[in-house]
Amino acid sequence: MDQKKILVAYFSATGTTERVAKAIADATGATLYEITPELRFTTDDLNWNDPSSRSSLEMHDPDSRPAIANTDGVNAADYDLIFIGYPIWWDLAPRQVNTWIESQKLDGKRVVPFATSGGSSIRGSVRDLKRLYPSIDWQEGRLLNGSPKSASDWAKSID
Ligand SMILES: Cc1cc2nc3c(=O)[nH]c(=O)nc-3n(C[C@H](O)[C@H](O)[C@H](O)COP(=O)(O)O)c2cc1C
Repeated sequence: MDQKKILVAYFSATGTTERVAKAIADATGATLYEITPELRFTTDDLNWNDPSSRSSLEMHDPDSRPAIANTDGVNAADYDLIFIGYPIWWDLAPRQVNTWIESQKLDGKRVVPFATSGGSSIRGSVRDLKRLYPSIDWQEGRLLNGSPKSASDWAKSID
């Protein structure tokens, strides 16, 4: 019997990635954990056409690590497999994802990235995460812009 402990940690500003994360957690029996910014994003904060919006400022600064709430809400070290989900922002993962990864002990952990986007691939964000966190055992990630059902089928196929 498969007793593997699975965690689905996700960040979502407008709910799209959250829907996919929930589908994956339901399908795999995983614990669901939301990476919550200490300060919630407003619509203005998310305006990528405004170079001085909060998201633009955070994403244009590679060293930005915005505070997240409930960092002690979960201990990723307790899990065998960890999915990390996020929306693609400027071809990258939002910096809150970096803040969370750096708050956990993920060395040697099997981590599977997934993302939603307006059309961009997941590749640029994965490349950057691998470069920053080479000691994580990164698994093949996937862009999940399709149905939650296909997200579930994919997630169940990972062992
Ligand atoms: C600040 C910002 C930057 C974005 N940058 C990209 C991008 O580079 N490529 C892309 O395809 N979509 C981009 N998007 C669209 C989101 O990736 C897409 O809407 C995603 O599904 C939102 O997920 P969420 O509802 O979980 O926040 C961006 C959205 C925001 C708010």
